[in-house]
Amino acid sequence: MDAIHDVSMLAYSTYSEAGGVGKTTTAANLAAAHARAGLKPLVVPLDPQDGDLSRLLGVDAQRTESVDNLVRHMIRRPNGEFSDLIRTVDGVDIIPEHNMLSDLAEYLQREKDQAEAMGEAFGMHAQLLRVLREAGVPEEYDVLICDPPATEGPHLYNAIHATRSLVIPVEPSAKGRAAVEGLESLVAGLEEQLDVEVGVLAAVPIGFKDTRDQRKILDEIDYPLPEVIGERSSLMEGCWMEQCSAFTYVREHRDRRRDYELETLAQYDRIARHLEESVGLEAPNPPEPGDLDHEVIA
Ligand SMILES: Nc1ncnc2c1ncn2[C@@H]1O[C@H](COP(=O)(O)OP(=O)(O)O)[C@@H](O)[C@H]1O
Ligand SMILES: [Mg+2]
Repeated sequence: MDAIHDVSMLAYSTYSEAGGVGKTTTAANLAAAHARAGLKPLVVPLDPQDGDLSRLLGVDAQRTESVDNLVRHMIRRPNGEFSDLIRTVDGVDIIPEHNMLSDLAEYLQREKDQAEAMGEAFGMHAQLLRVLREAGVPEEYDVLICDPPATEGPHLYNAIHATRSLVIPVEPSAKGRAAVEGLESLVAGLEEQLDVEVGVLAAVPIGFKDTRDQRKILDEIDYPLPEVIGERSSLMEGCWMEQCSAFTYVREHRDRRRDYELETLAQYDRIARHLEESVGLEAPNPPEPGDLDHEVIA
């Protein structure tokens, strides 16, 4: 099957093989940055754990099995329209995580066994791509962002199969360096296993404190580094508390604007432009980076 971005869509998964690095934070804030520039992003969080993207952006939905959800669509047992799965917040469309994601491997395996018993093929790792294509996502959206879990498995494989590109949050530490070193063999393994080409659009160091060791670690990264994001625990913690993007948090929940936080927002804007440019996508209404008074034209 062809890549989803045949129709000039920007598609990527935020991925790192280390957990707690900033995948979800990166996905949510880049989605917000694409949206405020006038693009239409769809975010597909695939991490079944708590503390996930739909919680961060406050669109957590009902999670009982009878409620229609993405997994049902992936195993060809939809309980409604794809478009009804979507929640929208600040111009970002999201398909909220659902409890059935925890058992995605079993559901896919069962469907595959049944299909094969009927002499049919069923690609366990191509189902997200199929669902998105059948729903017309490449035609309707400018950007697709998947937020898979760190562990290898069908969530990650489906995300990568659908997006073919990665944005890698990196912890600037020895642990982070090991994760980046492991990434190359991981990407090669995924390419072989999925029989697709996987590109790295950018690495995004997060929590940088400008120490000598950290600078050395960043020097060794071979991927494009459009921006290096500093230590912003207070800002990010606030986002989880108020369930919103960093843009909305600073605009609506800070009593005063701090330059270093506005600079972090500007960085998300610039990373978004970098990613858009990498596929020749031009945002119709890009803000001055970090400008919170930018008017979003829907
Ligand atoms: N720039 C930053 N500075 C400090 N903490 C951050 C920064 N970005 C994200 N965090 C925090 O790091 C933790 C893990 O981030 P998260 O995006 O949930 O990672 P992952 O999805 O990789 O598990 C969260 O508590 C988040 O608020
Ligand atoms: Mg996460």
